[in-house]
Amino acid sequence: MAQINPSILSADFARLAEEARRVEGSDGVAGADWLHVDVMDNHFVPNLTLGPPVVESLRRATDIPLDCHLMIEEPDRWAPGYVEAGAGSVTFHAEAAAAPVRLAREIRAKGARASMALKPATPIEPYEDLLPELDMLLVMTVEPGFGGQAFLDIMLPKIRRTRQLIDKHGLEMWLQVDGGVSASTIERCAEAGADVFVAGSAVYGAEDPAAAVRALRRQAEEAAGPGREG
Ligand code: DX5
Ligand code: ZN
Repeated sequence: MAQINPSILSADFARLAEEARRVEGSDGVAGADWLHVDVMDNHFVPNLTLGPPVVESLRRATDIPLDCHLMIEEPDRWAPGYVEAGAGSVTFHAEAAAAPVRLAREIRAKGARASMALKPATPIEPYEDLLPELDMLLVMTVEPGFGGQAFLDIMLPKIRRTRQLIDKHGLEMWLQVDGGVSASTIERCAEAGADVFVAGSAVYGAEDPAAAVRALRRQAEEAAGPGREG
């Protein structure tokens, strides 16, 4: 099953509770699987967004579980606080973590899914042996920092290689893509083996964000075909 995670980076930050409700399901119609929350510290990336207090408030404002993507330095120090704030999944960057195994174990021990992200220039191969410690691997399909950037097609081989490693080890972990995912790029990602799709501008830039979520999910599932269970 393909999962669609709208990114609130493209939502109205003064009305986050309402923006979350715009992608919730209703009357048996599935909505967003997770709400993607981009945390930026103006050091790891040249942009600044929000921290644990906003995550805590958002947690109370919606039933959609929160997928926190930490684009920050020193995730070893800060990531556990996002689990405490209510995140159901916490993603730290491989490039920023001092001790990724210890950090992933700490996130899991605190009760959230542990996930690691790779910037476009970071290869997956050095992390093969770490995969069993993770619940999800995020392959960035833009340079992190901003919404609305063009999808990097050159990341498709990395998505494919990551899917092969996950399958080779027989792991249940998810493979997420983030950046430039839209109606015109999601099929390529699904064919390459991604099963969790972050979409910011493609969802919140649409007239009906909930309909955009459903359309993206349908496209991803059709492109993945019956062979992949996700
Ligand atoms: C970029 C963020 C993304 C961003 C995606 O650094 O990590 O989650 O919100 O936005 P779109 O889908 O517009 O590329
Ligand atoms: Zn993100």
